[in-house]
Amino acid sequence: MSQDIKNVPYHVAIIMDGNGRWAQQRGLKRSMGHLEGSKTLEKLGVHILKKGVKVLSIFAFSVENFKRSKEEVDYLMNLFVEMFTKNFKSFQKEHIKVVFSGRKNMLSNEVLNSMNEIQKKTEDNTKGILNICLNYGGQEEIIDASKKIALDYHNGKLDLETLNKETFYKYLYNNLPPIDLLIRTSGELRISNFMLYQMAYSEMVFTNTYFPDFNSKEFDIVLEEYYKRNRRFGGN
Ligand code: IPE
Ligand code: IPE
Ligand code: MG
Repeated sequence: MSQDIKNVPYHVAIIMDGNGRWAQQRGLKRSMGHLEGSKTLEKLGVHILKKGVKVLSIFAFSVENFKRSKEEVDYLMNLFVEMFTKNFKSFQKEHIKVVFSGRKNMLSNEVLNSMNEIQKKTEDNTKGILNICLNYGGQEEIIDASKKIALDYHNGKLDLETLNKETFYKYLYNNLPPIDLLIRTSGELRISNFMLYQMAYSEMVFTNTYFPDFNSKEFDIVLEEYYKRNRRFGGN
């Protein structure tokens, strides 16, 4: 039985790619692309959650992104601190709860503190969830979940018979539902170690637009594309 796709997707995920090329195209430093991307995220995120989407996951920094130059990594880390402590007012105004997915190692205390701050400030909000994937890897998330499962089993807290596709979600960084719609900007046709477990039956849309230029209008076009899809989940 195919699913009625006229419903607003519950969980949307975005691989925000192309900041560097956006800047290079304009003769600017890559960091200017990240700055512009952060502004896009604030406007776009509020728009998406106002449309009735309940969970928005965004790929902000992958575990692999530490391979980049120290200059770029430092710039991004400082930008995250700015965003979580000073900006993001619009998410707070819209009663959006901010959560994080990813490993805590490798992140400075300053970054960790700013993450805690925004998380605390918004923890009682109920209008929607913004899940920020920072120092995140999809394979790492599955490994970390496996370790939690092994521990629970070892401590007698888990009956292996009860472990299934649904209960596995509880062991992921945040117990969020499967992704209905995945968007990747910038023309790359790959997943780059994003939310592998949650993506099993996502509808995917790839757009050539660099993330800083991806606006609300283009999101609405993507949404129309999503509504045309026929989700079968293996049925007919
Ligand atoms: C995405 O843009 C942002 C991060 C990975 C942090 P990129 O920085 O990957 O931009 P391109 O892909 O080099 O254009
Ligand atoms: C994926 O983009 C990570 C984020 C958007 C944060 P990358 O630019 O790092 O991915 P690759 O290297 O093109 O696969
Ligand atoms: Mg990229």
